[in-house]
Formats: sequence, C-alpha cells, structure tokens
Amino acid sequence: MEKIRVELGERSYDITIGNKILSRLEREAGRTLLVTDSTVKKLYAREIASALGTEHVFSFPAGESSKRPETSLDICRTAARLNFDRKCRFAAAGGGVTGDLTGFAAAIYMRGIEFIQIPTTLLAAVDSSVGGKTGADIPEGKNLIGAFHQPSAVVIDTAFLATLPPAELKNGLAEIVKTAVILDGQLFEQLERDPESLFQKPDFEKTYPQIIRRCCELKGMIVSEDECEKGRRAILNYGHTFGHAVELLSDYTLPHGQAVAAGMAAAGELAVMLGVWSKECVRRQKALLNMLELPVKIPGKYNTCDLVAAMRRDKKNLNGRTRVVLCSDIGCAQLPVEADEKDLTEAWERIR
Ligand code: NAD
Ligand code: GLY
Repeated sequence: MEKIRVELGERSYDITIGNKILSRLEREAGRTLLVTDSTVKKLYAREIASALGTEHVFSFPAGESSKRPETSLDICRTAARLNFDRKCRFAAAGGGVTGDLTGFAAAIYMRGIEFIQIPTTLLAAVDSSVGGKTGADIPEGKNLIGAFHQPSAVVIDTAFLATLPPAELKNGLAEIVKTAVILDGQLFEQLERDPESLFQKPDFEKTYPQIIRRCCELKGMIVSEDECEKGRRAILNYGHTFGHAVELLSDYTLPHGQAVAAGMAAAGELAVMLGVWSKECVRRQKALLNMLELPVKIPGKYNTCDLVAAMRRDKKNLNGRTRVVLCSDIGCAQLPVEADEKDLTEAWERIR
C-alpha cells in the first residue's frame, strides 16, 4: 500500500493505492452516505458499505446521461431525509460520473461537507478522483455546472479494475496518454514500449499500480501548484476542448475517454499547423493511440462548423475566443493559446 500526499494546506489529503485495501478504510465517527451507480452497486456496494460501516446507499442509473445537476440534488435530498448534518460525509464509489456528481453534492449540501473518493474505473483512478473538480453537464455544455471541492481522501483499490470491460479500460488509457504527453516523456516511452501489458494482456499486478501512482503524483503536483486553474492546471485539459465538443454533439453518448483521444489527435494537428509541435511528435502520439485502439479520427459524422461552434462553450475560453492547450514536445504542454476558427476547422478536417 502506498500513499501520495496532495499538498493543499488545510485541504491536503492522501491518495492511498493498493490491492484489496478496502478493509483498511478508516471508519469515521460521523455517518456516511455511499453514492454509486447501478452497475457498481451490483458489483461492489455491499463490500464497500461494509468497509465504510454504513447502511446508507444512494444509487443512480450508470452512464454519462445521469451526470445532471438533478442527480446531485437527489443525493442532497436523500442526505436531508436521513437528517445528515455537517459532520456527515459522502463517499463516491464508481467512475468519474459518480465522483463528479458526489463531489458536487458534497460542495453544496449545507454549504459544504466532506467526501471521499473510491474510484472503480481506471479513468477515475488516474484522473478524475484527484483534484477536486466536481460538477455536472447541462444541455448547453459539458461540466458547465460545478465547484472546486477537494475530497478528504482518495482510496484506489486496484482490485476493482479486474471487472472493467475493455472499452472502459481504453477510456482510462486515453487520460493516461494525455498525462504522459503533457507532463512525462518517460512515461510516454514506457507506454510505447509495452502497450500489450496495458490492453491486450493487462497487467493489474505491476504495470497498472505503477502507472496509476505516477499519474496521481503528476496530477497531485499540478493541483498543489494551481488548485483552481488560474494558470498551469489548464494543461490537464489537453485534448478536452476538442473532445468536449464531440461529447456535446453526441448528446453525451460518446465516452469521455474516446472523445479526449480524438481531441488529442486534433490538438496535435493544430500544433503542427502552428509550428509548435514536430510532425514526429504527432506521429508518435497517433501511433500510441492507435496501438491502444483509441480514436484518432472524428468519432462520428459531425460537421466541422458544428464542432468549432461547440468549442465556443468551453470553460477555458475568454472574451469569446476559443483557447486550446498545445504541446511543444512529448512530455511538455504549453498554457492555453487562442486559436482562430479557421485553424480549428482545418485541425478537425485533418482528422476527418
Ligand atoms: P463512468 O463513471 O460513467 O464509468 C464508466 C462505466 O464503467 C459505467 O457504466 C460504470 O458503471 C462502469 N464501472 C465503474 N466501475 C466499474 C468496475 N470496477 N467494473 C465494471 N464496471 C464498472 O465514466 P468514467 O469513464 O469513469 O468517467 C468519465 C467522467 O469523468 C466524465 O463525466 C468526465 O467528464 C469526468 N472526468 C472528470 C475529471 C475531474 O477532474 N473531475 C477528470 C476526467 C474526467
Ligand atoms: N481533468 C482536468 C483537471 O482535473 O483539471
């Protein structure tokens, strides 16, 4: 079992990573509402509730279509009906959808209570459970409602990964590739060297724990530097401005990881067009995404004008100008830059 500390002054917390570590979860004196989706409820709710010492479970239908503010309100209303006070906490056990919704509910219930993250998808383990971004989608755009609210602990039990369908493993791999492209050239080389142990024959004993630890370390470092995304944290959104546009146009039916992969492919093309990234870097990124069977083309028959229009809704935009994160090398991202709509259209066209 290993611990990584996210340093945020009085809001600091530990990320604990290990195999079959749930039984070592600390039981709090206050009461806990376990929040989970319908799939994870069937698989793990009993085990997790017993580890947390609670009998209160709230569940919602699995999938991004549940990531609406109303679901977070339902969590709060359930807590209110149970007479939860400010000393009670929520525990999010599931993927990024569960974590984002539960964190948002914790941010607004009685103006803020504690919550813990127990990620059960790879994507949540390497990315969404860390950093305190919480929220929900609205028809107008992805993640447009939300709050920064840090968890008080993140407990990553790699035993959960064994039941993940391959498609969900791939969604997590997209965020791992993102982390490597923006921050860690060595991690990128490791992924290039041994894609088999990630996907064809996933090694949950060694490879995954090591990669999860590295991704959490890197994300924790960025979050400690810039908790509320006033600057450098924006690099974690590499591929996301493009990706969120496809997610929106797909009516949130396209999985986030797939959208991010296509978004990175488009961002790579834009960086080459603007002369900030070499053709060799974009080739390597595309080859790795291909090896992991992630999309490097627009996933769907979307019109490029509609995609560019959807990008105008991104939270990073300022004064009506679309801003995107680009890389200058493998392992080195730049702060967001403004992009012309003509260039954005061309970048999309290049991956059509
Ligand atoms: P998800 O939460 O919908 O989980 C994917 C699917 O896997 C669901 O059907 C779920 O029921 C199932 N599942 C979960 N654990 C399982 C297990 N152990 N075995 C079998 N099935 C399991 O989606 P996700 O990919 O985890 O997360 C995507 C969401 O995360 C998006 O909404 C995205 O915006 C958000 N996100 C947030 C952040 C952040 O910083 N807050 C970062 C990245 C992504
Ligand atoms: N996933 C982007 C962030 O946490 O900042």
